[in-house]
Amino acid sequence: MDELVMNALRDAVAKTKRNALRHGERFPYITEEKRYDWRDANNEWIEGFYAGLAWLGHEFEGDAALGDAARRLTARLVVRMEARQAMGHHDIGFLYSLSTKAEWIVDGAEAARDRTVQAADVLMERWRPAGRYLQAWGEEGHAEHGGRIIIDCLMNLPLLFWASETTGKPAYREAAEVQAARSLKYLMRGDGSSYHTFRFEPATGEPVRGETHQGYRDGSTWARGQAWAVYGFALVYRYTGERRYLDAALRAAAYFLSRLPEDGVAHWDFDAPKDGLDNRDSSASAIALCGILEIGLLLEEGAPERDALLQSSGRMLRSLIESYSTVDDPDAEGLLRHGAYNVLAGKGPDDYMIWGDYYYVEALLRVAKGVNGYWYER
Ligand code: GLY
Repeated sequence: MDELVMNALRDAVAKTKRNALRHGERFPYITEEKRYDWRDANNEWIEGFYAGLAWLGHEFEGDAALGDAARRLTARLVVRMEARQAMGHHDIGFLYSLSTKAEWIVDGAEAARDRTVQAADVLMERWRPAGRYLQAWGEEGHAEHGGRIIIDCLMNLPLLFWASETTGKPAYREAAEVQAARSLKYLMRGDGSSYHTFRFEPATGEPVRGETHQGYRDGSTWARGQAWAVYGFALVYRYTGERRYLDAALRAAAYFLSRLPEDGVAHWDFDAPKDGLDNRDSSASAIALCGILEIGLLLEEGAPERDALLQSSGRMLRSLIESYSTVDDPDAEGLLRHGAYNVLAGKGPDDYMIWGDYYYVEALLRVAKGVNGYWYER
């Protein structure tokens, strides 16, 4: 396994470097053409993953060109924040944990710390005190999205927990704690599966119903949402020490693993029919894998779940490398094949996903070097 992982890492980092040298400060967007669409635009939820990939690549062997690329891409995200361009969504944590926060972790740059606190302030603008939730999308009072939370947001809570730690101000943590508790109560179902989104009455916070946004149907389990739950609840446990969140991460992981097909890589929605809608989502598996590796770090010595989880993570990683990675294609731009963005909308139903590439390399680096991404301070 060691050689397999190292070989996959060398290949992934070399491709990341080639992309950076070839495409400069442009960001990769999803296509359906087995390549990335390299864009000057910087107005999506995904740009941080590409910056984070460059930071991970730089951390692998200290490559200076990748370090420069990571800093330049991060600088573009800072310009975006200053311009308040496309910042009206909860994905601020994805964008800035993997750019300015990574810069602060890797380079120790104080200015990057300040930028990251600024990002946490932007995320806090989505806190709705009356309803007691972080609104996922749209402006306050939005007819469609005004009362909505989504499970993906669990991954953005580390930015808030971190902001309280670094500033000493409790407001960020208080909001994150309420959001985590309500995500546990309303997004997680009794069997360990999850809703993608949940609606509240904005004025009162009264629960309305669970719904999907990118999944097959409202009561189905969208694989990437389940993966966000695995990793997100593990990180909430890391920050809060509250056992119920580790238990939630364990239940979400057990459910995810129980629904995997033979090769250990998830279908895009665990409940979608397999005739004609059987796309895989390798990105969901890469995210869940990082979550399971994180759970492995958090479980106490001798915990009964540990061995089975470690075995599963080894199987998932091997399958991603051997059957889904582009290690066999020197010309490929992406790192993981067969990701799915939004299958029913026909948007990136089977292609490279930049977040899949990011979590794939995070998993490889976790295993090879104990570099655990940028969600918490090392
Ligand atoms: N956070 C959006 C997605 O996972 O597609």
